[in-house]
Amino acid sequence: MEPSTRVQELTPSLTLSIDSKAKAMKAEGQDVIGFGAGEPDFDTPEHIKAAAMGSLDAGFTKYTPSSGIPELRAAISEKLKADNGLDYKPSQIIVNCGAKHSCYNAMLATLDPGDEVIIPAPYWLSYPEMAKLVGAEPVIVPTKAENNYKMTPEEFRDAMTPKTKMIVINTPGNPTGSVYTENELAGLADVALDEDILILSDEIYEKLIYGEAKHVSIATLSKDVYNLTLTVNGFSKPYAMTGWRLGYVAAPEGVAKAIDSLQSHSTSNATSFAQKGALAAYKGPQDCVKQMVAEYSKRRDLICGLLDGIPLLKYVKPQGAFYVLVDISATGQNSTQFAERLLDKQKVAVVPGIAFGDDKTIRISYATSAENIENGLKRIATFVGAS
Ligand SMILES: Cc1ncc(COP(=O)(O)O)c(C=O)c1O
Repeated sequence: MEPSTRVQELTPSLTLSIDSKAKAMKAEGQDVIGFGAGEPDFDTPEHIKAAAMGSLDAGFTKYTPSSGIPELRAAISEKLKADNGLDYKPSQIIVNCGAKHSCYNAMLATLDPGDEVIIPAPYWLSYPEMAKLVGAEPVIVPTKAENNYKMTPEEFRDAMTPKTKMIVINTPGNPTGSVYTENELAGLADVALDEDILILSDEIYEKLIYGEAKHVSIATLSKDVYNLTLTVNGFSKPYAMTGWRLGYVAAPEGVAKAIDSLQSHSTSNATSFAQKGALAAYKGPQDCVKQMVAEYSKRRDLICGLLDGIPLLKYVKPQGAFYVLVDISATGQNSTQFAERLLDKQKVAVVPGIAFGDDKTIRISYATSAENIENGLKRIATFVGAS
């Protein structure tokens, strides 16, 4: 049986494939250090698990409204107001099966075949594939390391054509760790406003932010920007809930309704008892997030310090998320050669930047212990001949 043309056009997820190769080597007993995964190494906080388990015990095991349980949508609405200064009514919020699903639904609900979606590179690898899946055209726009891998308004304007319908902005960013300032967002928003370009604002790493950096939600900039924006967020990264599959999109009423309608015919609701866990995540104590952020922040400093000792490797200090994007071009290898040889020779798994649209880099995730970071960076130094 032949898969559809649509599916044949997809690029397999390289992050998952390197990760599974590293896991297979580990399972064989090899001493592999994995910097590949895009998920927290912490467990979900106990009070969140307890809420989900309690709801299971109470028989909360049936369908819910496809848009999510009312109390979770209300809690998200309150959170968006309190943390982000965003005014979204519960009816404008649709709970999905992970922020990945939220992004996909957002594109499915707003893009038509032939529409172009501007995606600044390096990008989270699912954006272009999602755009293709809905029949749209991803337009990849490289950003510059000297601009901290952030798109400038000029780059945005130059990439625009009469077919441009959407821009994807991911701040804090995967794989760059870059965080856009309010001014930088305002510059991009002005360009979007000129041509009525929709903004898909993926804010999943919002809480994982370090030092002086501050997260700004682009939809707060003005009513007009708000009306063009679909704000995506979720529970996977801040609350270490990747396996729970819970995210949401907040959008102008009409788009939210459209997303609800298409979701009602595809996945229906996100898992009932997982939603109760998410409710506890937003309503419960937030010190669990603070502790995780403090730990990531220490690891970021550790990894950056170790990278400073390897002059052949360059990087832009990440301000958010839990990745460092490392420029390996001085080694004379492309990103796939580097990642494959590093795994074979030193048993260290990283993700080749080609997966993110930048063949000059590799991504190192620091969602792993300080001990792994120290040992792994020693091996990387040996691999590039720096020790
Ligand atoms: C930028 C970005 N957006 C969305 C997601 C998806 O998160 P979720 O687990 O909620 O689907 C990821 C996960 O890696 C991500 O890096």
